[in-house]
Amino acid sequence: MKLVTIIGARPQFVKAAVVSRALKAQNAKNNIKIAEVLVHTGQHYDANMSDVFFEEMSIPQPDYHLGVGGQSHGTATGRMLEKIEQVLMSEKPDAVLVYGDTNSTLAGALAAVKLHIPVAHVEAGLRSYNMKMPEEINRILTDRISKWLFCPTDVAVNNLANEGYLRENKTVQHVSNVGDVMYDAMLYYKTIAKPTENIGNLMGKMKDGFYLATIHRAENTDNSGRLHAIVNALETIAKTKPVLLPIHPRTQKILSENDINLQHVTLLDPVGYFDMIILLENCDGVFTDSGGLQKEAFFSNKPCVTLRDETEWSELVRHGYNQLAGADYEKILAIEKKLSERNMEFAKSLYGDGHAGEKIVLSLLDLVI
Ligand code: UD1
Repeated sequence: MKLVTIIGARPQFVKAAVVSRALKAQNAKNNIKIAEVLVHTGQHYDANMSDVFFEEMSIPQPDYHLGVGGQSHGTATGRMLEKIEQVLMSEKPDAVLVYGDTNSTLAGALAAVKLHIPVAHVEAGLRSYNMKMPEEINRILTDRISKWLFCPTDVAVNNLANEGYLRENKTVQHVSNVGDVMYDAMLYYKTIAKPTENIGNLMGKMKDGFYLATIHRAENTDNSGRLHAIVNALETIAKTKPVLLPIHPRTQKILSENDINLQHVTLLDPVGYFDMIILLENCDGVFTDSGGLQKEAFFSNKPCVTLRDETEWSELVRHGYNQLAGADYEKILAIEKKLSERNMEFAKSLYGDGHAGEKIVLSLLDLVI
């Protein structure tokens, strides 16, 4: 059996590492050979956005690097589609694996399904119900054309049920809650994660606590009002407690273009997965518009303030681990003030049992062979 895995953006390296490891384990256990061909679209191309993840997580070097990165959505997705199609025509895999909701996800799924190659979508069924997000468009379309829909939560399964998936497509689409591969990743890698010298030194200076922040969503970076409100709120907070902000290149570029200089927030270069684990373990709370980091805060028993108006991870909000602050200056500050008073129990296992990767591989074996 041959699988082609399509990845391209930072969170996909983390997710694919989990399934690749599970594939290798199955091969060793059952003396079978599932071959995995790895395709990197090039969507994220800076060393600290890409290479560091491959090194830390021992992901094999991609078999194909398509070098498509840095363009507009349409151009990037179109070029990926064209190049992935060529790879699939020569590799002729039994199935294609795609992850999450990026332009690489959609391009991979679309190229495959047009060639009648079945698609497995890992992290299926998530919805923000905000069609202005490129990620929402990508995930809805990818779900619609995938054969295997591996959901991370019950909420995701229900979203698909509400869209009629379980009713109409039962025979052609397989929907299951396998748990979240990012939870598997955190459980595995936190036992081996060591900080780089830079982050190790920084942690030594942060003994009195700090917050961790990230901003990269287009809805925040490309909207001047929202970006200013978020940045100003983080600046105010940083006057009383350090705020560390590993900065995404998209955000860095926009801050420079708009002459926004941060006086109080501590800017860091993008960090690798291990440094991120160390930052999460040591921080007092997380301010973010990232999808993955909201869950990783929960996995690390840290409260999260989400700088968006909605989230796909609604179970975190329902249980009080995550609060939505949007890009509202006053709201961000008001939530921060009460953050230290919150004494939370993070006992709920919302994201499976840490064996999502294994379940995905077993399902594929069952259904493909
Ligand atoms: C993408 C995903 C988003 C995911 C995020 C994780 C889409 C639509 N969005 O957003 O869902 O949460 O990755 O980080 O696919 N850039 C660099 N160096 C890099 C990568 C990007 O300079 O290594 C710059 C480029 O100018 C690029 C811009 O950042 O055009 C945006 O990158 P892109 O991959 O399109 O979107 P992200 O914001 O990273």
